[in-house]
Amino acid sequence: MDKNLGEIRAELKKYNQEHLLNGYDKLDDNKKQILLQQIENIDFELVNFLYESTKKVNETKQDEITPMEYLDKSKLYDDYKYYENIGKKAIEEGKLAAVTMAGGQGTRLGHDGPKGTYDIGLDSHKSLFELLSDGLKEEGKKYEVTIPWFIMTSRENHKQTVEFFEKHRFFGYQKDKNIFFFNQGELPMMDTEGKILIGEDGLIKLASDGHGGIYEALVKNKMVDKMKELGIEWVFIGGVDNCLVKMVDPVLMGIAIDKGVTVACKSVVKANPKEKVGVFCKRNGKPNVIEYTEITDEMAELKDEDGELMYGESHILCNLFNVSAIERMGETPLPYHVAYKKASYIDQDGNLIVPDSPNAYKFEAFLFDAFGEVDDMAVLRVKREEEFAPVKNADSAGVDCPRTARNLYKKYHNLD
Ligand code: UD1
Repeated sequence: MDKNLGEIRAELKKYNQEHLLNGYDKLDDNKKQILLQQIENIDFELVNFLYESTKKVNETKQDEITPMEYLDKSKLYDDYKYYENIGKKAIEEGKLAAVTMAGGQGTRLGHDGPKGTYDIGLDSHKSLFELLSDGLKEEGKKYEVTIPWFIMTSRENHKQTVEFFEKHRFFGYQKDKNIFFFNQGELPMMDTEGKILIGEDGLIKLASDGHGGIYEALVKNKMVDKMKELGIEWVFIGGVDNCLVKMVDPVLMGIAIDKGVTVACKSVVKANPKEKVGVFCKRNGKPNVIEYTEITDEMAELKDEDGELMYGESHILCNLFNVSAIERMGETPLPYHVAYKKASYIDQDGNLIVPDSPNAYKFEAFLFDAFGEVDDMAVLRVKREEEFAPVKNADSAGVDCPRTARNLYKKYHNLD
């Protein structure tokens, strides 16, 4: 520890967070060290800034939102082969890696464990991780390469995730050679007065900083260095919850290379104006995604002259980045979105409080907020039934659930 207790107390006082040491004396030595380290790691200026941001009204309403251009994969005609050949060459040269964002738990699915370990109910009982690894390996075979795979975990699920992979012999991958695990970042949770919360364990209550933290996490954890060492130039970043995710797509890569863009994203046509997906747009002239929580009903219903939704290109978390873009994005702070959540905590008098309604702010950055950092990017519309089968809710929800994902997976792979 670089600072002594007195200095830390003074620092905390400056930021009105002295309460963080209230229970310090009662902690064992190990936890004392952890707590002090946690305090040392907190950027209190950022915490103040985040708290102030909770008081601001949503400023995005003043942004100028316009539709985003896209290419349709099924209407590329002669260009299809052209782009495919460019992408193929780069893949064969070993320039592509895949990143899976797997920081989430399977809570919404009633699954106690990392979401990637969830079995969607196929006859094979393969987990999401195994389905994803199958896809990667199959594609790798086509191009006679092993596509390096980077898995982003959270503090909550890192150990369990790595143990799961160990148990399954990394699905044929080799740890630290062509499969790598890294942790996503965290931010403290705070109450409505801006006080950082202490959890049941006497330590600071931290929560994942959202998938927007991925760029910084890739840089800080030296994954970008690793990629460069391996000769990687392009990185596909996708979610763990799409069992049809196509991480290796020569056409998408060929488009990115040919058009000289550093980000290329896939979209599918929005199923209906109310579907819970973000849609690609331009925000103040820069590429962006407007979230389903943010789009107005009127905007969601707008149609163009062909009768298609004007904001109908759904963001499916299937995005390809040049390594240089990841580095740049890792250095640029992203805006944080505030969620108001229920979080139990230890109060100033040392009592455990278990709230029955939301009481705490959690801050998350969204990966697509970094899209504005690039001058231009390409969007490629692909077929939903070929590439998008998300597993987000329990079957009772009826959409984006294990049953719908399983059916889409079986249909695509001719399993019935
Ligand atoms: C997300 C997108 C939405 C998109 C939809 C497509 C956001 C904010 N919105 O919505 O634009 O149309 O998916 O399916 O993302 N994850 C982490 N760490 C985190 C948070 C998320 O690794 O801190 C991972 C999850 O494990 C998952 C993915 O990111 O693989 C998506 O996150 P989720 O919270 O499920 O996003 P959605 O609200 O479904």
